[in-house]
Amino acid sequence: MPSQNQPQRDCDIVIFGATGFTGRLVAEYLADQAGGGNGGAEPMRWAIAGRHSEKLEQLKNTLEQRNPACSSVGVIQAELHDWASLVFMAQRARVVLTTVGPFIKDGDRLVHACITGGADYVDITGEPEFVDSVINQFYAQARESGRRIVNCCGFDSIPHDLGALYTVEQLPEGVPIEIEGFVRSRGSVSGGTWQSAITAMARLRASRRQTVAHRAGNTADRSSTESSSGRRVYAIKPRLRYHRDLKGWVFPLPTIDGSIVRRSARGIERYGPSFGYAHYGVSRALHRIAMLGAGLGVVFALAQLGPTRNFLLERKKSGQGPDARERASNWFEVKFVGKADNTKVITRVSGGDPGYGETAKMAAEAALCLAFDRDRLPDVAGVLTPAIAMGDVLIERLQKAGLRFEVLQTSQ
Ligand SMILES: NC(=O)c1ccc[n+]([C@@H]2O[C@H](COP(=O)([O-])OP(=O)(O)OC[C@H]3O[C@@H](n4cnc5c(N)ncnc54)[C@H](OP(=O)(O)O)[C@@H]3O)[C@@H](O)[C@H]2O)c1
Repeated sequence: MPSQNQPQRDCDIVIFGATGFTGRLVAEYLADQAGGGNGGAEPMRWAIAGRHSEKLEQLKNTLEQRNPACSSVGVIQAELHDWASLVFMAQRARVVLTTVGPFIKDGDRLVHACITGGADYVDITGEPEFVDSVINQFYAQARESGRRIVNCCGFDSIPHDLGALYTVEQLPEGVPIEIEGFVRSRGSVSGGTWQSAITAMARLRASRRQTVAHRAGNTADRSSTESSSGRRVYAIKPRLRYHRDLKGWVFPLPTIDGSIVRRSARGIERYGPSFGYAHYGVSRALHRIAMLGAGLGVVFALAQLGPTRNFLLERKKSGQGPDARERASNWFEVKFVGKADNTKVITRVSGGDPGYGETAKMAAEAALCLAFDRDRLPDVAGVLTPAIAMGDVLIERLQKAGLRFEVLQTSQ
């Protein structure tokens, strides 16, 4: 029962950061669901939230023009540095979906507020330091309170995490499994992603400290080799090589995705008694990889010093991003090669604009899944990966929403 001062939980989903570039796309995606939370079967109550009420009202008008049913969409003013506003928002929501980044800049306050206010939580971070810090601070609290805190529900890391799960499900049970994931994409970067990437590059030491604390911690999904049940989960050492089947050069991709896949493997028995994963990018030409490496090296070096870092941060501003035409020409595919016993399987997850169009879809479907599919989801709580929290139920939703999960080849 809510206390006298506690607001009613009147929203299935609240989008926090709705006036930002990605948040707006998530809001438009929900607006297009024709008011129904479960394929139209159940009415959906939702709200947009952010720090500027004028911007929120403008967004609400745009949504109403898109779909008149959006006249019932709520508007909540909330600020990361105003604790009471965060708790109030969480108390009104069953699920808070946040696109407010860089997440390492106080994003943990919202996780805390969701646990306090009794809401589940979904974000689109790809920042390893933030994810480790959320696990280190809130794993036990989230578990005890029955909350589901699910990071990385955008392109980082849903296609990789759910693609690996999908691949595991095509292989025999109860035997050691190894999977390699190969990502190809065409995409562009928003101001928010740029700010987050530069911030992460400047904080590599702090990030390492969080990872070390996560490994040492007593959480079921800790990053060490042994999972809590004694099963073995490890990183296959990736190496630069020409891949004949993929007709391209494959190179180690040091994004958060590999560690998310391995956390899922620690939490789900189906990945077998021993599970190894390696994560790669794919390029047709070796010189492109060299150019990419050199470019990243320069940006990384510039991100280490205050003045040059500020120069970089000024290059792309918050709120900017690829327009609809550019997004329409973007695409991604992740191929997985899985081996177990004598079976080999090749699978593929693919879709459109990875960074924004599909990220908005993935995050929105993850929030819808937590809000409306509760009866079909695993009975788990804590700081969770998408595969652990939602697994096949989310794969089903994403397939219906147009993402492709396919088996390309099976051989024995
Ligand atoms: N994992 C993925 O695949 C993926 C894909 C896309 C984006 N992302 C991440 O998502 C984040 C957002 O990206 P974006 O391009 O959408 O960024 P953006 O356009 O800059 O939007 C950021 C939003 O955060 C809000 N905000 C900032 N500080 C706030 C505060 N203190 N309190 C309340 N709201 C605050 C901003 O509010 P105002 O509108 O009032 O300024 C804005 O709505 C970035 O961290 C990016 O890296 C990840």
